[in-house]
Amino acid sequence: MPSLCVFGAQWGDEGKGKIIDRLAREADVVVRYQGGANAGHTVVVGDETYILHLVPSGILHPGKVNVIGNGVALDPFKLLEEVDKLHARGVHVAGDNLRLSSAAHVIFQHHQRLDALSERWKGAGRIGTTGRGIGPCYADKASRTGLRVADLLDPDRCRERLGAALAEKNAQLTRLYEEQALDPGRQMERYQGLAARLSEFVGDTGAEVRAAYAAGRRILFEGAQGVMLDLDHGTYPYVTSSSTGVNGIASGAAFPPNRIDRAVGIAKAYCTRVGEGPFPSEDTGPDGERIGRAGREFGTTTGRPRRCGWFDAVAVRYALELNGAEGWVMTKLDVLSELSEIRAITAYRVRGARRESYPAELASLRGVEVEHEVHAGWQEPIDHVRAYADLPRRARDYVEQIEERVGSPVLMISVGPERDQVIPRGL
Ligand code: IMP
Repeated sequence: MPSLCVFGAQWGDEGKGKIIDRLAREADVVVRYQGGANAGHTVVVGDETYILHLVPSGILHPGKVNVIGNGVALDPFKLLEEVDKLHARGVHVAGDNLRLSSAAHVIFQHHQRLDALSERWKGAGRIGTTGRGIGPCYADKASRTGLRVADLLDPDRCRERLGAALAEKNAQLTRLYEEQALDPGRQMERYQGLAARLSEFVGDTGAEVRAAYAAGRRILFEGAQGVMLDLDHGTYPYVTSSSTGVNGIASGAAFPPNRIDRAVGIAKAYCTRVGEGPFPSEDTGPDGERIGRAGREFGTTTGRPRRCGWFDAVAVRYALELNGAEGWVMTKLDVLSELSEIRAITAYRVRGARRESYPAELASLRGVEVEHEVHAGWQEPIDHVRAYADLPRRARDYVEQIEERVGSPVLMISVGPERDQVIPRGL
């Protein structure tokens, strides 16, 4: 595993945290390259459950270096809160095992406010964001008005850039949204107060990761959200504001794309989505509800109930192909155990025409119809199974038929939240 990217192949919440925590055992460096505290990666270790929003999922393994790359939208309060929580639970987090890019853009209070206000403004056309300020922060990055971690560490530069940013944002807050302005002095104090604590982690992480790779160390890139939420390739505009797949690594981790040696997708044995936007395989009936209950499908970041539906082979095939994945991990297969019949989407019908490839135009997904196949459920617990041959025959049939539909091998199956609840199949 010289360098490996693990990414979500659906709409996020595929169970990446657990798989990355597991793969981190064989890595030296774990790198987050996009997104921010909109992510919520859950790792269960014995009786302890850790929910990580910004800190990479390798942190629970001693001796690994965890990197927050320049492509991450960093909420410094959330980061330090997470570090404190880890400390309180006896996890070592310091400048030697957590690195933060000096070029990561900082999320300020005005970004969070504007995230909420812009959603309110959009009304029925809202995206259903996590409200973490992610979109406004990336928008400022592209508009070249944002502040980076390095700016936070330099008081004069911070005052100048934050002052300039707030002049514009306050006009927006007061004149467009008729809300109160933010006081530049107080904002400066609030964020500058964190600089001393952050500085221990800050460095040129791109150079550090490239040097580690050149020295033969194993790099694991941890994708957040999922390909169907990718800014360019997802269900735009109902997406997040970053590049969620392998495509985000070159810019978000400052790592050469031709040194990304392997890519593996993660997808649940069914499908969920939070927020608004098209979801062709959604099941709003009792089966969808049952899946949500069995899978405890509530957002780890927002607590919102997730919309539930069936495995969508069209979407997953697209996500894996787009990212050059050598295979994928099927998670939460155990959640389907109580169902007597399991559906899987095999093709779409767009204005009467059958298609097995994902339509690039969101408009095509309006009123999309789906073709599905029905699999017989196995209706027995599988959370104790650790070898593929020990799965009930019907569960194996399900995995193999899905695998064929997707056209890419299932390299591992996850059958529960615990670290060891996996069935290896080549990964
Ligand atoms: P934002 O990333 O907060 O701007 O939200 C944009 C869209 O991405 C919304 O539909 C969110 O629900 C979704 N989203 C963002 N982060 C995650 C995640 O980690 N899991 C699942 N959905 C997410």
